[in-house]
Amino acid sequence: MTKPSTDLISVAVWDVFVRVFHWSLVLLFCFSVISAKVGGNWITWHMYSGYAILSLVVFRLMWGFVGGEYARFSSFTAGPVRAARFAIALLKRGSQHSVGHNPVGGWMVIVLLLLLTLQAGLGLFGNDEIATTGPLARYVSDDASIKAMSWHRRIGDALLILVAIHILAVLFHVFVKKEGLIRAMLSGKKSLPRALAESTANPRAARNGLGLFLIGFAVVLVAVVVNWPSIFKN
Ligand code: HEM
Repeated sequence: MTKPSTDLISVAVWDVFVRVFHWSLVLLFCFSVISAKVGGNWITWHMYSGYAILSLVVFRLMWGFVGGEYARFSSFTAGPVRAARFAIALLKRGSQHSVGHNPVGGWMVIVLLLLLTLQAGLGLFGNDEIATTGPLARYVSDDASIKAMSWHRRIGDALLILVAIHILAVLFHVFVKKEGLIRAMLSGKKSLPRALAESTANPRAARNGLGLFLIGFAVVLVAVVVNWPSIFKN
């Protein structure tokens, strides 16, 4: 007897790099928010945390082009019409499984990555007019450096709102739509309807050597940028 197409099959979706990226980002983001609020000596740690976030995001942006199948931007960037159709169908019907990020979630991921890059980048040029300047503040005028810090604060608030929406959306999928998205981001495997699972034949596997190289590259790149003034003493 053939099983009904509503059977769920476990499919490997998130490669280890996406998972390590995500949960490291969650920890560093929380730490960055708390250390910014506490202030004082914690600002030094806030800056280190920002450098680590920048390294992670630089890595993820590269991985979006050469990573495993579902880590690639090409697998989850949908046009606005498809995203709108998906959102309407999601609200009307039961579960709307997607193998990787769904068409709406995909856009949220892109916006989060871009804002995180901008946020960490602005921090490098910022001057909080108390005791801290970013490592690259000397390359811009005082006025630009103060403006960079003011945008750093505004984008920080925008990120908090977006992250709250992101978490609420994930909880909606988990508790209302009964999709194990959090479990999937931990184990890498998603339970998908048989028909959908079978349509995912031969996904591109993540190349672990390349992933490790790109992590190293991102860390070195950020370290060089952050230490540029002391390396080149100009
Ligand atoms: C405890 C809180 C959080 C939970 C439970 C959570 C859960 C998830 C889940 C389940 C996904 C995959 C969604 C999907 O299947 O399409 C995801 C993706 C993502 N989340 Fe979160 N998240 C949390 C916090 C955060 C925070 C604080 C940030 C950023 C500051 C963040 C940024 C992202 C990004 C960028 C992705 C895309 C991952 C990728 O493709 O590399 N998340 N999150």
